[in-house]
Amino acid sequence: TRVRSSAASDVYKSQRIIGTGSAVPDFIVKNEAFETFLDTSDEWITTRTGIHERRIHEGNLEQLAAIAAKRALEDAGLLPCDIDFIICSNVYSRFMTPALSCVVQGLIGAGCPCLDINGACAGFIYALEMANAYLKHGSYKNILVLSAEEPSRMADWTDRSTCVLFGDAAAAAVVTSGGFECLFSMHTESNVEFLHAYNSPGNCPFERTGRKHEAVYMNGREVYKFAVNAATNDIIALCSNAGVELCKVDWFILHQANLRILDAVRARLTQPKEKFPHNMERFGNTSSAGVPLMLDQLNRDGALNRGDVIAMSAFGAGLTTGACLMRW
Ligand code: ACO
Repeated sequence: TRVRSSAASDVYKSQRIIGTGSAVPDFIVKNEAFETFLDTSDEWITTRTGIHERRIHEGNLEQLAAIAAKRALEDAGLLPCDIDFIICSNVYSRFMTPALSCVVQGLIGAGCPCLDINGACAGFIYALEMANAYLKHGSYKNILVLSAEEPSRMADWTDRSTCVLFGDAAAAAVVTSGGFECLFSMHTESNVEFLHAYNSPGNCPFERTGRKHEAVYMNGREVYKFAVNAATNDIIALCSNAGVELCKVDWFILHQANLRILDAVRARLTQPKEKFPHNMERFGNTSSAGVPLMLDQLNRDGALNRGDVIAMSAFGAGLTTGACLMRW
């Protein structure tokens, strides 16, 4: 089975989220803006994706990430010095090195060790699982799990099939030891063809592959099929392993890639619409920041009650999926 759980004795001694925060750029790009330089329409984008507008960052991603991190700390009632570790999920930033988490650590004035991971759009769930393992091991008490993404910088803005989908954002959660059991389900089906972006090889004179920088390419139909199947199966497997009926899950927080994917998963799980919150209509696909951005919105809206059962699921390049079942 792909579902990993803790030993029975660990139940209720796992992690819990004690604070969330997010930050989105001020600059709004509505669907109509694409009509001025691409052969597309608001109607096509809205009906195919559910997206009406997205935020594009004009500055540097680390600034946005630092704001999200500070807001999560404030919400948790913690100071930067209370954070023992930072895990940042990121696909692309201006830094190849150092890791984005190291830059953010300096900006928020924390003094802890840091690490970046690239789990594509599922990165937040992977980072959460790593935090869970660190907390269980007893190495750390408070971990900042951060997702900071600027897919706008990776997209080809002449390719109507991808650039209309993405938006920039950063979102974070502070997790601490104790609390309820979390279950995770991780899954990768290696496939470069369907979804990829290539780095430039630089100017190495000995390079013989002839490769060059290539913006995001996605076979939308194949990714769509993978996403619907994987998210549905992951959530069913998690709930079955935890002995939790689907109807007992209060919230299904899915990667905010596409409203049609979300609706297809919901239909297969035969659960009501109200349990599948979405905000891709305002922010587009913000890669791994999508799930924590949605979580932060629910938290700040006062929609979450302590003890609520939350299933999170995200999917992306790899092809990779990650899902998590936890209590708020
Ligand atoms: N405006 C107008 N026409 C367009 C646009 C556009 N923005 N984009 C593509 N088209 C055209 C295509 O060129 C094609 O035209 P053709 O028939 O003349 O060749 C036609 O629309 C159909 O293209 P498809 O790609 O088959 O369109 P589809 O209905 O599958 O919708 C979409 C495309 C929205 C990308 C869909 O496949 C999808 O949502 N896939 C999942 C992608 C996803 O969510 N990925 C997220 C996970 S990965 C990550 O987050 C990085």
